[in-house]
Amino acid sequence: MSAAPRRRPVPKDPPAMTAEPAPGYTLGSVPGRLPLLGHAPRLLADPCRFLASLPAHGDLVRIGLGPQTAIVVCHPGLTRQILADDRTFDKGGPLVDRGRELFGDSLAICGHDRHRRQRRLVQPAFQATRLPAYAAVITERTGRLTDSWRDGATIDVQAEMRAFTSQVAVATMFAASMSQAEQQQALDDLSTLLSGTYKRMFMPAFLSRLPMPGNHRYETVRARLRLTLGRLMETYRATGTDHGDVLSKLLSYQEDGTPRLTDEEVVDQILILFTGGSETTANVLSWAVHLVARHPDVETRLHAEADAVLAGRSATLEDLGHLPYTRQVVTETLRLYPPVSMVTRIVTADTELGGHRLRAGCVVVFSPAAVHRHPELFPKPGRFIPDRWAVQPQPALPRGAFVPFGDGPRKCIGDTIGMTMATLALASIAARWRLEIPAEARVRPVLRTFLAPRGLRATVRAR
Ligand code: HEM
Repeated sequence: MSAAPRRRPVPKDPPAMTAEPAPGYTLGSVPGRLPLLGHAPRLLADPCRFLASLPAHGDLVRIGLGPQTAIVVCHPGLTRQILADDRTFDKGGPLVDRGRELFGDSLAICGHDRHRRQRRLVQPAFQATRLPAYAAVITERTGRLTDSWRDGATIDVQAEMRAFTSQVAVATMFAASMSQAEQQQALDDLSTLLSGTYKRMFMPAFLSRLPMPGNHRYETVRARLRLTLGRLMETYRATGTDHGDVLSKLLSYQEDGTPRLTDEEVVDQILILFTGGSETTANVLSWAVHLVARHPDVETRLHAEADAVLAGRSATLEDLGHLPYTRQVVTETLRLYPPVSMVTRIVTADTELGGHRLRAGCVVVFSPAAVHRHPELFPKPGRFIPDRWAVQPQPALPRGAFVPFGDGPRKCIGDTIGMTMATLALASIAARWRLEIPAEARVRPVLRTFLAPRGLRATVRAR
């Protein structure tokens, strides 16, 4: 009979693993953890560098997220395992808890027990048959975007991309559109809240409830945004028309005549879909612009493809299959700068991961940014090489190695729309404009819930 495994005394914060090293998968810790702050200063100062450094410490790596300990999964097989089992590795932990303050218990936030019902409700809006209609909106809005630029003008790249993607999100999901002014206010409010949410993740929860000016501002902006979205819902209710879009579906009734969701829940869903539909893709496009401007060889090939396929017009869904290099550029951008760079999960029952025991209550982090820069998966991991993706699917890449949209039951519901939007927009921009970024510009990644480029301004030059 084998001896019972020796156990470490139960640590106070949180009861994570046994001390026994497991064969195969390694467990490490990152040095330099500060009291209360943990590794938050390093993570916030340079998120990509910090997350990319983790695989060197092990397949599972303990870090301090503020005062709390979390285990970052840096191995593709284990990443796949936690994403496949959303009952044991459920939505939870500090980032999701803070997200819940903003998005309620909506589709991206709710726990396993509520997820299937919500996903079923929203899924019809994301069926493949709807893609042509969405793509038509993307093409039309891309045309407006590229028409609005003037030769030699300097643009705030992220602001331009956010305005574009949010217009697409509103037009595709909420056909009875918000006014231009309301949309801009909603975007500004969302931006304020998303930066606030991330900072809150590193603070003990009670601090965000104290009557301090920062908390007051957060609550005021949050209330205003919810009011705007509530008005959108009221407009729908007042007309009673089924627009055949996401919002009409959310407002529909069950067979017994009761609403599928309460008003509060509908607003939560609008908010998460608006955010998912706009912020993620806007950041991918902004990073792509940055990377292309910094790699003249890539720019030349991107422009050549756009010239050959589009000859100056905006890309349509029919062009998608003829833009393989543009797609490679988008894919490589998603590898280096995945907008969702880390998300927390909570272990719901004592379990095992990679041979290490995890106790219920342990916080686990799923981090595309960590696995995407793993040197054993991607040679020269910090370099922007779109040709990595020239062969599709990648024969040597294990499942779980490239997960910009997550995987398993909680995989992104808008992955096809996001990829389509980014590819068509990037090609359409390349067909008409060269975006120059001054050599001295210091563009830095910052975590504002999503991984965003700070300081990204470009001069647009007609081609
Ligand atoms: C390039 C663009 C996008 C990226 C990189 C992205 C990334 C992700 C990731 C990684 C997840 C999983 C998070 C987790 O496992 O905790 C996710 C979930 C989600 N995304 Fe996206 N997303 C993108 C575009 C979109 C779009 C366009 C929409 C909506 C129109 C959207 C809506 C959602 C929703 C609602 C969820 C939650 C799904 C669920 O839990 O069932 N995303 N996204």
